Amino acid sequence: MLLNGAVKIVKIHWPVSLKRGSIGFKPEYLTQPDIPSTWRAMETLYDSGKARAIGVSNFSTKKLRDLLKVARVPPAVNQVECHPSWQQPQLHSFCKSNGVHLSAYAPMGSPGGTSGKSRQLLKDPVLNMIAEKLGKSPAQVALRWGLQMGHSVLPKSTNEGRLKENFDVFDWSIPEDLFAKFSEIEQVRLVTGSNFVHETFGAYRSLEELWDGEI
Ligand code: A2P
Repeated sequence: MLLNGAVKIVKIHWPVSLKRGSIGFKPEYLTQPDIPSTWRAMETLYDSGKARAIGVSNFSTKKLRDLLKVARVPPAVNQVECHPSWQQPQLHSFCKSNGVHLSAYAPMGSPGGTSGKSRQLLKDPVLNMIAEKLGKSPAQVALRWGLQMGHSVLPKSTNEGRLKENFDVFDWSIPEDLFAKFSEIEQVRLVTGSNFVHETFGAYRSLEELWDGEI
């Protein structure tokens, strides 16, 4: 995003690295990431004023903790998949106690996604029960849950009616008794990053390694 000629925020998109000169993606392009040195380059951007803020995305709690140990400028944000069916409680607490804002992508569980697991959140019985009680749509309740957790939510829509619906989440709230019900929703990570896991190439041999067990 541009603001007065300066990029507003720059993020490390994934904790992975591709060989210099790679065009497109193939597993053999994966190489060992050097996150401390990438972060130093980000800090240089920040110092120069070219970026107003620097952050990360798709970082596990462990990767964020490791980064905070070496960062001179702490990351402003960790943008991760987060919604009522992937609540990330450990990461949420860590971000909160370390002043890193958690920004949620796929905040409605990516209902348009092609994976079999997508589309499920908006049909979840607990979410639908809460939506019915509040007279809101399941999508609005999912977004409102994110806001009440203190996250920012990044819903996507190409439909005018749904865009309006998704903005209508600021002048009401989910009461405590219904908020407690979110703990009953089955948890599943939708965006696994499996492309970045390979038996030979790159840094991660398994999803466990990529997410440091948060899978
Ligand atoms: P559409 O563009 O047709 O509205 P996410 O942001 O969680 O990844 O989800 C994006 C998907 O959710 C898109 O496929 C979008 O389709 C759909 N979507 C956006 N808003 C709503 C809504 N209020 N109810 C149902 N589906 C929605």
